[in-house]
Amino acid sequence: RIVRGDELPDWFVWQDMLDELQLAFPPKSRQGFTIFMTGLSGSGKSTIAKVLLVKFMELRERPVTLLDGDIVRKNLSSELNFSREHRDLNVTRIGYVASEITKNGGIAICAPIAPYEESRQANRALISRYGGYIEVHVSTPLEICEQRDRKGLYAKARSGRIKGVTGITDPYHPPVNPELRIDTSTMTPLEAAQEIMLYLQQQGYVS
Ligand code: PPS
Repeated sequence: RIVRGDELPDWFVWQDMLDELQLAFPPKSRQGFTIFMTGLSGSGKSTIAKVLLVKFMELRERPVTLLDGDIVRKNLSSELNFSREHRDLNVTRIGYVASEITKNGGIAICAPIAPYEESRQANRALISRYGGYIEVHVSTPLEICEQRDRKGLYAKARSGRIKGVTGITDPYHPPVNPELRIDTSTMTPLEAAQEIMLYLQQQGYVS
């Protein structure tokens, strides 16, 4: 679309125009992308995310941002609780930030529990408009997460001291169609990160 003379289009038209420009995607090797990891507490999301963060920083190809569950809860979603409504709000906030990073050619690594398919799908739809979206289901079984219980969350849930804990008294809906499924009970975090890197190489996102 062409803007003629000194007429200024209103903000929404501007936004459409900017989106159109940004939708003229560069090749995948220069597009931004989001790695969206979802899984139970203790499944290994954060550990894999940190390994990936270091790998991407070493590559020096794009700026990289980690949006970890705990960090986001502290800095962006501190007023939210763990009701379904607030979890969805938390997850779509992460999705919005990741979409901006992706739009500007960066890498966003997200690692919330994100237990519901609808909010994950909303993120996928938004982010794929601007670049790559790679959903990784960290599918480590509950029994293993519970054995690890680094934060004592499951013990508190079992003894009834906390209600609404994902996997115990709150649901986790596994992703229907993730790009990758990774079970950290059968591999190390380094191997898991390598599997994700291999996928990104095969898809042409990284060299
Ligand atoms: S969500 O569902 O995506 O909004 O959750 P998230 O923001 O990732 O927060 C998960 C971390 O919060 C701690 N925590 C709980 N998790 C699940 N259920 C309940 N009720 C709960 N209360 C506190 C928990 O330590 C999670 O940490 P991670 O990083 O996932 O281990």
